Amino acid sequence: MTAETGTVGVDQIGIYLPHRVLPLDTLAAARKVPTEKIHIGLGAYQMAVTAPWEDAVTLGANAAARLFAQGQVKPEEIGLLIVATETAVDHAKPVSIFLHDLLGIPNNCRVFELKHACYGGTAGVMMAADWIRSGAAAGRKALVVSTDIARYPLQSSAEFTQGAGAAAVAVSAQPRLLALDPISGVYAKNVYDFWRPLDKREALVDGKFSVDCYLDALAGAVADFCAARNRTGDKNTAPLYTQLAALLYHTPFPKMAYKAHLRLLESEWQRTGTQPADAAAAAARSYAELVDPWLEASRKVGNIYTASLYLCLAWLAERAADRFEGKRVGLFSYGSGCCAEFFTGTFVPGSAQTAARIGVADLLAARQQLTVEEYERLARDGTNGGVPPSGDAAFCHLAAVRDEKRFYERNGITG
Ligand code: CAA
Repeated sequence: MTAETGTVGVDQIGIYLPHRVLPLDTLAAARKVPTEKIHIGLGAYQMAVTAPWEDAVTLGANAAARLFAQGQVKPEEIGLLIVATETAVDHAKPVSIFLHDLLGIPNNCRVFELKHACYGGTAGVMMAADWIRSGAAAGRKALVVSTDIARYPLQSSAEFTQGAGAAAVAVSAQPRLLALDPISGVYAKNVYDFWRPLDKREALVDGKFSVDCYLDALAGAVADFCAARNRTGDKNTAPLYTQLAALLYHTPFPKMAYKAHLRLLESEWQRTGTQPADAAAAAARSYAELVDPWLEASRKVGNIYTASLYLCLAWLAERAADRFEGKRVGLFSYGSGCCAEFFTGTFVPGSAQTAARIGVADLLAARQQLTVEEYERLARDGTNGGVPPSGDAAFCHLAAVRDEKRFYERNGITG
């Protein structure tokens, strides 16, 4: 076994989003909240809503099926399958083993579910990259599926930040999309900012505190990243953001990415002594160039916890990989509780061709709009299985829950 010495990173991404969407202006009207508070105050416009036959398993399997349908990665190449979720369907039986079965992944594959709130997806990607670098992969690829349904109590202020969806990320040597740099910065601290006790379907959150925890974790992870970079002998003292073509942040709601970017700029200005005279104007320009263009999908989907950062990455790749080939981007992942990681990657030559197959814009355009009454009924009905209508074309669905067991069916659609 020899360690992998070439590049390691994201080979391909598959995204899946529910077919149903609720425009948030209608929810704002129903809750007697000014629409501007949601559109401007949170930056959110729509949220994805799941049907009774959609859960973390179906969302994740549908994302992975869309990845395989792009034709560059095959189920038989997968030697490590990690599913990151905070919407598990069982305390013992992992979501990953359902995906392993539904997707026809070989038996000689390490399969497990991983949890650390929204950070789980990045924990999986980092673990997969290390598995490949170590040589243990022996030429195989890893599949890291992040899949979640963000649910808060009806009528709560967090209700506007719900969402659902999944991202499947194939990690390999000589990746076709994004080469990951080997250094990253991490930050961990035990905080009670967002949690979901074992008997609860909806998350509990100390909203304002969670925003502060996120921002502190960002500062901590970036400081650790800079320290790690210094240890490699890289004496580059320019502010981090000047060396990056885009910055992608975990996006529980789009305004959070704005707050995050401000914090990053402030701490970098302080670290490098480069605060501009008109800091507010410089911050607005930097945000408009590096962050805002990649938030469009999040604005229309809502929070998808573990998959949120990877939806932003998919959107950037799909819209602009041709302009980004050879360019480095920064990614920040935050999981409440908390653990966070800041890392970087470079779009490889040819990545635009790979990215053109992801199809997020098509998924967004094909959705059916719900009324608030329909959304509330779906929220109360829960996830007990059913038969999707023919317009809901997807790879698989939850057919039924019987005797405390879940039964999934493939629909004969490849992606
Ligand atoms: N016009 C324009 N803006 C308005 C407005 C109006 N009429 N009325 C209010 N606003 C603005 C407010 O000024 C505020 O902006 P700033 O944050 O820039 O000050 C914004 O709208 C939100 O309003 P509130 O401060 O009143 O906040 P809220 O009670 O609506 O709660 C929230 C906001 C705390 C984010 C809540 O939605 C929540 O708890 N969400 C879930 C938790 C969350 O997403 N936390 C993020 C960090 S944790 C994390 O990232 C992990 C994860 O995925 C959960």
